[in-house]
Amino acid sequence: MAGTPIPLIAGNWKMNMVHSKGMGLATGIAEGLDPIGMIPVDVAICPPLTLAAELGAFLAATRIVVGAQDCSPLEEGAHTGDVSANMLKNAGVGCCIVGHSERRADHGEDDILVNAKARAVLATGMTAIICIGETESQRDAGETIDVVTKQLAGSVPDEALNTNTVIAYEPVWAIGTGKTPTLEEIGEVHGKIRALLYDRFDYDGAAIRILYGGSVNADNAHDILRVENVNGALVGGASLDSEAFLKIIRDCPAPPIPGS
Ligand code: 13P
Repeated sequence: MAGTPIPLIAGNWKMNMVHSKGMGLATGIAEGLDPIGMIPVDVAICPPLTLAAELGAFLAATRIVVGAQDCSPLEEGAHTGDVSANMLKNAGVGCCIVGHSERRADHGEDDILVNAKARAVLATGMTAIICIGETESQRDAGETIDVVTKQLAGSVPDEALNTNTVIAYEPVWAIGTGKTPTLEEIGEVHGKIRALLYDRFDYDGAAIRILYGGSVNADNAHDILRVENVNGALVGGASLDSEAFLKIIRDCPAPPIPGS
């Protein structure tokens, strides 16, 4: 197996934050990160598109990468309302979430479309954060592993590498509800995702980061981030509070001592 990947803490602001509030939040996170200094953790924030370009420029000199929450699978043309991956890159965006369950539910996005969006992101050189996760009824029916296996196979393109792809396991029933799976349940699903990635992508599959998402907060992050094969978190509500988001970043485990 490759070494433990550096954790990634990504904030998904969803459809929140008008200009002044968003700039204030980003400023608070950037200032709070300064003293955290060299702790090996990657940080991304995914604001609404209206703030992406300005935040991309504002945060360019910091360690914070600005991400997007969605993109078109297409390159350009007559597609009213859509934004291409290349446009995002051009606006200073470094990563893009695809296949979030809210888009799968609100816009009927399926694995084929998510795969095409991920390929569009990778083609620009940006990182794709590909979301998968079961609904409550699927979990109750004992289908979690089957659902996640199918979504992973369908949504992750063959071009995925550990340097350009991140998987986010987000149980739909845990998003915004304050409910989370147990640490054992998280470990079971992340272990399965790791095994599937390793089978398919070999060395890269061993090192592709697998984030947990769904009601991560300043109180539970410490324990969740220490579950095996949890390589960071995709944070919704708690990323709208700079103190909570910074605490989650600080809670990332220290890297193993070389040679130990
Ligand atoms: P919450 O952290 O608000 O549950 O949202 C998780 C999520 O959907 C991140 O993409």
